[in-house]
Amino acid sequence: MNKLFAANWKMHKTAAEARQTAADLVALVSGRLKPGREVLILPPFTALAPVAAGLGGAAGFLLGAQNFYPQQQGAFTGEVSPGMLLDAGARFALTGHSERRHVLGESDALVGEKTAFGLASGLCVILCVGEKEGERKAGELLAVLERQMRAGLQGVPKDIAPERLALAYEPVWAIGTGLVAGPKEILEAHAIVRRILVEIFGPSASAMRILYGGSVKPDNASEIIALDNVDGVLVGGASLKADEFSRIVLA
Ligand code: PGA
Repeated sequence: MNKLFAANWKMHKTAAEARQTAADLVALVSGRLKPGREVLILPPFTALAPVAAGLGGAAGFLLGAQNFYPQQQGAFTGEVSPGMLLDAGARFALTGHSERRHVLGESDALVGEKTAFGLASGLCVILCVGEKEGERKAGELLAVLERQMRAGLQGVPKDIAPERLALAYEPVWAIGTGLVAGPKEILEAHAIVRRILVEIFGPSASAMRILYGGSVKPDNASEIIALDNVDGVLVGGASLKADEFSRIVLA
C-alpha cells in the first residue's frame, strides 16, 4: 500500500493562490517522490478545479475535498454533494475531522452517514477520529476510538475495497497546537485503530491506510512515517506552503 501524504488546506487560499501552490508543489516534488508515496491535496471547494489545473495530472498527485453532504442533490442550502466533488475532479474526501465534530457540531451518527454515503457514491473516504485532551487525561482513548469508529463505519460494506477507505488518527490536543503526539502515543492509538478495523473488516483491514495528523512538520515527519501502522500523514498548517510541505513529502 502506498503511503499517503495529505494536505488539508482548511479554509485557506483563493483559487489563484491554490492553483499556484499546487503547481509549485508539483515542481518541487516531481521526479523526487520516493516509490510507494502519494500526495493528496484537499483544498476548499472553491479551489478544487484550480488545483486540478495546477496539478496538471502529475503522477503521484491526487485531489480531494474536506467535506460533503450525504445526499446527491436537493434542498440543502450551502451544501455540496459527492457527485459534485467527483465532477470537480476530486477522488477523495474527509469525514469526521475534529473541526467538523467540535466546531460545526457534527455527531458520530452524521459522520457515519457521510462515510457510508461518500463511499457508495464512488469517493475514497478518510474517516478522522481522535480524542480531546480531557478524554485522554480521563483514560478514555480506547472508548473514544471505539465509539467514533463503530459509529463512523457502521454503514460501510464489509467488502469495501481496502484502498478506498482510510482512517486518520488525529488527537484533538495536537491539531494546530504545535504539540505532536510522541511515538509511544501514536503507536498505541494506531494499534487500537488497526485492531478495530480488523474486527470490523477482517483480513482486508491490513491494507487500509491509517494516517497520523496533528502538528506534523518537516522535522518530525520522517520519524512519524516510519512508525508501525502509520501509512501516511494528514497535515494542516505545514501543508500551506509548497516548500514546507514538499519537505514533509520528501522526508
Ligand atoms: P495541523 O492540522 O497539522 O495544523 O495540526 C492537522 C489537521 O487538522 O488535519
